[in-house]
Amino acid sequence: MSPAIRLEPLTPADGPYFYELGSDPQVARYMRFSPLTDPAQGDELAQSYTTGGNLAWRIVDAVSGRSAGVAALKLGDHEDTRRSVSLFLARDAWGQGYGAAAVRALQAQALELGFSTLAGFIVEENTASRRLAEKCGFTLEEILHFPHIKPGLCLYGWRA
Ligand SMILES: CC(C)(COP(=O)(O)OP(=O)(O)OC[C@H]1O[C@@H](n2cnc3c(N)ncnc32)[C@H](O)[C@@H]1OP(=O)(O)O)[C@@H](O)C(=O)NCCC(=O)NCCS
Repeated sequence: MSPAIRLEPLTPADGPYFYELGSDPQVARYMRFSPLTDPAQGDELAQSYTTGGNLAWRIVDAVSGRSAGVAALKLGDHEDTRRSVSLFLARDAWGQGYGAAAVRALQAQALELGFSTLAGFIVEENTASRRLAEKCGFTLEEILHFPHIKPGLCLYGWRA
């Protein structure tokens, strides 16, 4: 069962939280950023996730008040029309249903913002994330391949 969560807006001032999560190599493993090694990189990540049309939220457990991770709707590099989902949880929050709760909250948020479709880009080997996307109604549209990068990048799509 998914835990009850709420989404709290993140801002460019939340660099320390991005650094806390993004400096864990296991959390960063399949993300588009390398593991962060300097708090200034947390500030840059906070800036890029929360400005220029991108929106990010802290995933908060509604009962304990504990932070579980970051959920975001971003303007895609590969697509102009659909927002794409970005999600990364603190390692001690994995495997407890926060991922599914966060994706569902993002889908509701997208509808409130007037977006009835979403995209998700997931490294082919990221089994947990692919399973999560499929569980939340996303379907695999295409596997993109880039020069010099071995695993493909799966493009998932969701329509309300
Ligand atoms: C990917 C992530 C968001 C998943 O969230 P989560 O709440 O931990 O998800 P769960 O661990 O409950 O797993 C989701 C599903 O994948 C399955 N799964 C987990 N690890 C798996 C693995 N190694 N192989 C196969 N299936 C796996 C789970 O069994 C679950 O499916 P189920 O509900 O049918 O049992 C989280 O692990 C995370 O933040 N990872 C680091 C950052 C990241 O990779 N983000 C995604 C980038 S696209």
